[in-house]
Amino acid sequence: MAFHCLLLAGVIFCAFLATSIADFPKFDHSVKDDGSLSILVIGDWGRKGCYNQSHVAIQMGRIGEKLNIDFVISTGDNFYDNGLKGINDPAFEESFTNIYTARSLQKQWYSVLGNHDYRGDAVAQLSPVLRDIDQRWLCRRSFLLDAETAEFFFVDTTPFVDSYFTEPEHKYDWRDVLPRNTYISSILKDLETSLRESTATWKIVVGHHAIRSFGHHGDTQELLKKMLPILKIHNVDFYMNGHDHCLEHISSLDSPIQYLTSGAGSKAWRGDIKGDKNDAVKFYYDGQGFMSIEIAQTNAEIVFYDVFGESLHRLKVSKDLYSSI
Ligand SMILES: *[C@@H]1O[C@H](CO)[C@@H](O)[C@H](O)[C@H]1NC(C)=O
Repeated sequence: MAFHCLLLAGVIFCAFLATSIADFPKFDHSVKDDGSLSILVIGDWGRKGCYNQSHVAIQMGRIGEKLNIDFVISTGDNFYDNGLKGINDPAFEESFTNIYTARSLQKQWYSVLGNHDYRGDAVAQLSPVLRDIDQRWLCRRSFLLDAETAEFFFVDTTPFVDSYFTEPEHKYDWRDVLPRNTYISSILKDLETSLRESTATWKIVVGHHAIRSFGHHGDTQELLKKMLPILKIHNVDFYMNGHDHCLEHISSLDSPIQYLTSGAGSKAWRGDIKGDKNDAVKFYYDGQGFMSIEIAQTNAEIVFYDVFGESLHRLKVSKDLYSSI
């Protein structure tokens, strides 16, 4: 908000006007010399190496080396079962620092919070103290990442989900989130403004919860209703999320948006699905793995890998032509 004053016929009119600058914190990341960018995307991972987390980490290191990645994105549920206990929780090193040890993964990590992170000390994950322990770590609730060729819009999706505010069996750390309606409308307003002002060729929105999913949790109705219309208006290319412990690619039948789930960083193989398997579901894998995304000016390529680093599904998108292989 900015305070604007106008002197008119000797009377001063003042008004609070929303500025056109969005309130999301903004970070910049440089691209390779040819303008391209390579990234790994992982979600739902922090289990001290268990449930194949370490195996996925090893393959991320191998593929990360091959693609010469620029950074890593975490789609949330960074620490199980209940986030971090505080800034001194050893789980931070046991599930992050000591697991993703490959040379290629010693890059910046950009993370959002998942619902399990909110079950612990959510504020701790945002603390600069964690960056002193491991400088790769950067977690915010909602933020922008300008990587020249692509702009990333990270959104804190947990507060959107109604059931977390009514279910008695879990406690959530809603500090700085309440009052909830104000928090959500401010996210939507900032997202709208940032997308409208973005000049990046590729617009990629990242959240923990799926908008569309064929997995256990299914679609997130609150996001379908409140967030998706904004993404459609502003020609978002990809929506990337975790939450369902699987890998999946769902295409949109009424917009260019591709829905990409990478939530298979550790415990997976849930064995159940929700939603209708229809033409839009291009790929669904119930086991562990991760995703890579390579972006150049006119082309992007997304690949899903399993726990052995084998590629399972590939999606190529060009700015003029949408095709899935
Ligand atoms: C680890 O991965 C292998 C290969 O996909 C799978 O057979 C096994 O069940 C996984 N282990 C766990 C605990 O998920």
